[in-house]
Amino acid sequence: MSNSQKLSSKEINEKHKEYLFPSVANYYKEPLPIDRGEGMYVYTPEGEKYLDFFGGILTVSVGHCNPKVNEKISEQVNKLQHTSTLYPTENIVKLAEKLAEITPGELKKSYFTSSGTEADETAVFLAKHFTGNQELIVLRHSYSGRSLLAMSMTGHAPWRHGGLWAWVSSSSSTFSCLISQPWKICCYRCAVRVRSRLRIKSGRGTFWSAWACRTGLIICPAN
Ligand SMILES: Cc1ncc(COP(=O)(O)O)c(C=O)c1O
Repeated sequence: MSNSQKLSSKEINEKHKEYLFPSVANYYKEPLPIDRGEGMYVYTPEGEKYLDFFGGILTVSVGHCNPKVNEKISEQVNKLQHTSTLYPTENIVKLAEKLAEITPGELKKSYFTSSGTEADETAVFLAKHFTGNQELIVLRHSYSGRSLLAMSMTGHAPWRHGGLWAWVSSSSSTFSCLISQPWKICCYRCAVRVRSRLRIKSGRGTFWSAWACRTGLIICPAN
């Protein structure tokens, strides 16, 4: 089959099942292939139009195929595509400078990654380096990405295939309090639990809070 031959939704779903890891899970029993996007709309290969409330898990915050963003991307790929970070470029320093201007306090230095998983790995590495400790406490329902470390720090069974370390602690939210406590008492009990876990180990560690949002879970408040 030539690469330019357009596939139907059915063919895309069949090939997805055949050639991709089962862990690349789709939503719905009959997944919805998306062919193109425009602003707040996406279209299937058959041209069905959908209003997109999902936005690539909130990452397409300025709409699909935003002309201003696309113009800059094309400008860059037509000028210079890849050099590795071993050579400095104008845009990397300009962006880092801009971030230094808008970030609070003394935060000045940036480290760029191309995925959330890498960003999480870097943050844990820095925390480990800074504290000199291995312990990491993550919250229930959290999601951190698809690397081995990120899955280890995921407290949500469908996304945690295996795992090395990281304690999964209670979520400090009355919406999901497992011991049915009201606000304040609920948070206090969680804090006591975290403290007792830290005592079992070295007494110091990193507390990771990336929980009931995005990939993790959407919790409907009671009443
Ligand atoms: C809270 C959170 N952390 C990490 C990630 C991983 O990001 P990526 O898929 O870009 O590696 C996600 C992705 O949905 C996320 O929602």
